[in-house]
Amino acid sequence: MGNSILRTDKLCKSFSSSGVQQHVLKNLDLEIQAGDFTVIMGSSGSGKSTLLYTLSGMDKPTMGDIYFGERSLSGLSNDQLAVFRRQHCGFVFQQIHLLDNMSVLDNVLAGGLLVSKNKRSVAAEARKLLAQVGLPATAWGKFPSQISGGEAQRAAIARALINRPQIVFADEPTGALNSATSTLVLDVLTEVHQSGQSLIMVTHDIKSALRGNRVIYLCDGIICGDLRLEPYATDELTARNEKLKAFLSEMGW
Ligand SMILES: Nc1ncnc2c1ncn2[C@@H]1O[C@H](COP(=O)(O)OP(=O)(O)OP(=O)(O)O)[C@@H](O)[C@H]1O
Ligand SMILES: [Mg+2]
Repeated sequence: MGNSILRTDKLCKSFSSSGVQQHVLKNLDLEIQAGDFTVIMGSSGSGKSTLLYTLSGMDKPTMGDIYFGERSLSGLSNDQLAVFRRQHCGFVFQQIHLLDNMSVLDNVLAGGLLVSKNKRSVAAEARKLLAQVGLPATAWGKFPSQISGGEAQRAAIARALINRPQIVFADEPTGALNSATSTLVLDVLTEVHQSGQSLIMVTHDIKSALRGNRVIYLCDGIICGDLRLEPYATDELTARNEKLKAFLSEMGW
């Protein structure tokens, strides 16, 4: 068992709309190990995205706390939380949020220049990452509207990695992609895991979940299942698939 990188202590998140309180996360205790590729599954509305956004400091808990290492996030101001996210977290979303009026390369650079003033080293890192996610150099100068959805998602992953985040958060990163393109994006995320970074990914998709080494299942705001898998390797996919399917069927998926 590795070191804990994120830990929640009785995490609660509620929303109120039209005077009605909805308790979405209920006293959730969860420990995420550094270097794990943690997958969050569960039915629609079970609180997966809410958990991801509160874990990453994008949204604040209603009660309870989150610890990044020894540091409590509840003690941080909004500005401090923004700095925490920029320095330690990378984000990949289902809807790809690249800025339309900037080239692919500039999109990746922009995130890096928020943290480092050394333009030359940020540019070198951005090029390295774009190559690493498999984007041909001919695409780097294009605008997001001029590349495919899969290429855009790979560019978005390069942007998420520019500040060498300790944790990458991904919310259905292949949700808007076709199967072949999903595989390319999942291969990139698997490489990120293999390079030692921690990932937390929400997905509805078994093929995506197979890439993780831990699968947490949320039922109505509580954790009702927690499965460990060996780190992803292509030589034991059948057994891995069976194990995950058995777990999900037990969860009523
Ligand atoms: N900002 C918000 N204001 C009010 N209610 C919200 C808000 N965000 C989420 N909710 C509610 O919290 C519940 C859980 O939402 P969440 O987005 O976490 O679900 P999910 O598990 O990610 O679902 P899906 O698989 O459909 O993406 C839903 O009932 C949703 O309507
Ligand atoms: Mg969601």
